[in-house]
Amino acid sequence: MSTEKPIRRITAPDIRKRKGGEPIVALTSYHAHTAAIVDRHAEVILVGDSLGMVMHGMDSTVGVPLDLMIMHGRAVMRGTRRALVVVDMPFGTYEESPEVAFRNAARIMKETGCGAVKLEGGARMAATIRFLVERGIPVMAHIGLTPQSVNTLGGFRTQGRDPETWPVFEEDAKAVAEAGAFAVVLEGMVEPLAARITRRIDIPTIGIGASAECDGQILVLEDMLGLNPRPPKFVKVYGRLLEEIDNAVSAYAEDVRARRFPTEDEVYR
Ligand code: KIV
Repeated sequence: MSTEKPIRRITAPDIRKRKGGEPIVALTSYHAHTAAIVDRHAEVILVGDSLGMVMHGMDSTVGVPLDLMIMHGRAVMRGTRRALVVVDMPFGTYEESPEVAFRNAARIMKETGCGAVKLEGGARMAATIRFLVERGIPVMAHIGLTPQSVNTLGGFRTQGRDPETWPVFEEDAKAVAEAGAFAVVLEGMVEPLAARITRRIDIPTIGIGASAECDGQILVLEDMLGLNPRPPKFVKVYGRLLEEIDNAVSAYAEDVRARRFPTEDEVYR
């Protein structure tokens, strides 16, 4: 009989309870092997629709299809045992109506086995968030710089530079919290606004380019690993993967050109 204690997955309510406590460690992952590493250190893993840009070379997240999110969501679930896995709802799969959102969110939950979905938008998405939560789907909200709206925002710019705009973002945060979101991502937001929101709502705020005033932080894994040649300015880069991969591939190419392959003995031993 195994005496090993089974690992319990972190749930959305567990994250909700972390408000004002120890900072929440969150990272994106799209891939089973890297997710297994992240799983040892982070409480939340987001299968972000940024995968369209990071993995598939798209210019924005607007073109990401639902099936692709589901495929990567399944890979991440296979690679992890402990972290709460949240899968992004891609553009066009939830904005039309709460019913459409429910149908697509239910597909994500059933086909990936993830613990929650994330969608972008504040007050305008509150009714949809309430509809999903009341029907058993935990929702992480996302306000501030919302990349799926790049075409109406006119680019990826820090939000809230003008304090006169703050009430809109504060209303967004209040609306998603009251609608039942268990946490909210604050993306690309000036520090004093992120601090005000974090103080004023009772769900955790998870910042990305939104200062250390939030209840946690999320980064795109490839950005912090040094795999993005042009990471956003706010990203602290912890690794040098571009360089390491380049060195490894170059060493491999040299070996092949010099016919330094494994011998038959080594392979079939
Ligand atoms: O898609 C994504 O990776 C995200 C994070 C940047 C929060 O939404």
